[in-house]
Amino acid sequence: MITESLEKEHFNYLNTAVIVIDDNLKVACMNNAAEFLIGLSEKQLCGIPLSTIIKNGQEMITAIESAATDKSSFTARSKELEFVTGRNVTSDYTVGFLPGEGILLELNQVDHHLRITRDEINHAQSSAMHKMVKNLAHEVRNPLGGLRGAAQLLEKELDDPDLREYTRIIISEADRLKELVSRILGDSKIAHEKIEINIHQLLERVRQLCIAEGLNGIEIKDDYDPSIPPVNAYADQLIQAILNIVRNALEALNSNGRIIFRTRVVRQVIIGNVKHKLAMKIDIQDNGPGIAEDIKENLFLPTITTKENGTGLGLSIAQSIIYQHKGIIECNEVDGETVFSIFLPLEDY
Ligand SMILES: Nc1ncnc2c1ncn2[C@@H]1O[C@H](COP(=O)(O)OP(=O)(O)O)[C@@H](O)[C@H]1O
Ligand SMILES: [Mg+2]
Repeated sequence: MITESLEKEHFNYLNTAVIVIDDNLKVACMNNAAEFLIGLSEKQLCGIPLSTIIKNGQEMITAIESAATDKSSFTARSKELEFVTGRNVTSDYTVGFLPGEGILLELNQVDHHLRITRDEINHAQSSAMHKMVKNLAHEVRNPLGGLRGAAQLLEKELDDPDLREYTRIIISEADRLKELVSRILGDSKIAHEKIEINIHQLLERVRQLCIAEGLNGIEIKDDYDPSIPPVNAYADQLIQAILNIVRNALEALNSNGRIIFRTRVVRQVIIGNVKHKLAMKIDIQDNGPGIAEDIKENLFLPTITTKENGTGLGLSIAQSIIYQHKGIIECNEVDGETVFSIFLPLEDY
């Protein structure tokens, strides 16, 4: 049993799940994170054999037995664990031997490991693509000013209003291209310094912008985790990224549609190859028709669109902004709804 040397209260400050097991491989005690992970309380689990709690825990139990014999410790990575509650998690675990106390089992949930690492395979590919698109955009932008200026001069020389109609077209198309290019380059109104951002205030800004553009009866609900610490970010860019996602949702929905802005703290996430103790997850969920099957694979690539007047740049820009923040963006179908999730590391907290 846990005694003076280990104050159990201290375990409750840990983010990782800790279970203390007695010599008979039964649960002696556990911290809050472990209760949360398994989905049952310490009271319910105390005295229950580990083999009952973790249905596929045979490998772990063998390891624990040998750790107890050798008084050694060991770690296993990315194991699928199936709890008695029916909950499945992917977890790293460490078994340690506490002389005179029992065996300490530490579980680190790493559900996002695999999915996000897989996403990395496309990361290099799509950043190469972004570079190419950006170079191209620069090339297009340079002559645009000259083109527009020349058309303006020409317009002044023309008396025939029918001919002036042509110069109008040149000027307005040049303006449209300029606007498009600055969207690709993402450089129009960017603050060049990162600041501490309250994500909920930022989401409310996005909501206000959408209201100003017109919701057409679509409802925007929120489900915020008030415990989220501030994030260091380029505010304007982050607004742009989220706005691009929300605009798509608005465009996919009809007047009785509904969007949810959801925020959560997530622990122990690997984004790229970097393990982060703490990150935030921002979900933009809509109950629209979902992503068209034929673009699912390439959803985030530039020029992928199903809209007649679409540019296919919205998601690609959103993704490059999130990458700049060392985060990641993914799209999943959850309970028949479309969910775009942004993960942003919260390094210094
Ligand atoms: N919430 C959504 N529901 C359904 N389809 C979506 C959603 N978000 C994005 N899409 C699909 O992804 C495509 C690409 O989006 P985006 O990159 O913003 O370009 P665009 O909006 O110009 O088409 C859209 O054309 C649409 O088919
Ligand atoms: Mg779009």
